[in-house]
Amino acid sequence: MKRDIQKILIDEDVIHKRVAHLARQFQRDCIDNGIETVTVVILLKGALLFAADFVRHLDMKIQVELVNASSYNGGTKSSGVVALDRTPDVLNKDVLLIDDILDTGLTMTTVRKQLLEAGAASVTTCVLLDKRVSDYSCDFTGFDIPNEFVVGYGLDYQGHYRNLPYVGVLNPSCISI
Ligand code: PRP
Repeated sequence: MKRDIQKILIDEDVIHKRVAHLARQFQRDCIDNGIETVTVVILLKGALLFAADFVRHLDMKIQVELVNASSYNGGTKSSGVVALDRTPDVLNKDVLLIDDILDTGLTMTTVRKQLLEAGAASVTTCVLLDKRVSDYSCDFTGFDIPNEFVVGYGLDYQGHYRNLPYVGVLNPSCISI
């Protein structure tokens, strides 16, 4: 699997330090805003690893909701339609919405809107990677990255590579057109 990676973009140590920092920053913001309990909505499957590491750095009460959101269907281009399997109960709750990557921004903006329509008191957005393609910026961002197709630390190509501990660029020869 490792030989399919052309280059490592963000290594494991750098990811872990940044995730811990982001979580501390988020918690400080909650304290400043008088928020004691947060409902963390994790967008599967990509955000699984990031969110699992992030929440372990929070020293506060949280509830976790998992939502399956997909638009790339395993490939390299968005279908333009975000399919959600469910809308969690977020009525009057302060929500932290976590995803792995902001590309076109369609997923984050669509789900954020749905959660607000479902009655969330507030929705804070958090993403590990931002390709700086979308006009939308999340409230918390781990890393800005170049507009390349990346895998690892939750991100996939055709369902594979999610378990790599780093974020890397896939060798173009591994991408079927
Ligand atoms: C990926 C990724 C984000 C979304 C970002 O999901 O996990 O949710 O695309 O792209 P966007 O900003 O253009 O909407 P994908 O459809 O690949 O599903 P997955 O999380 O199950 O891999």
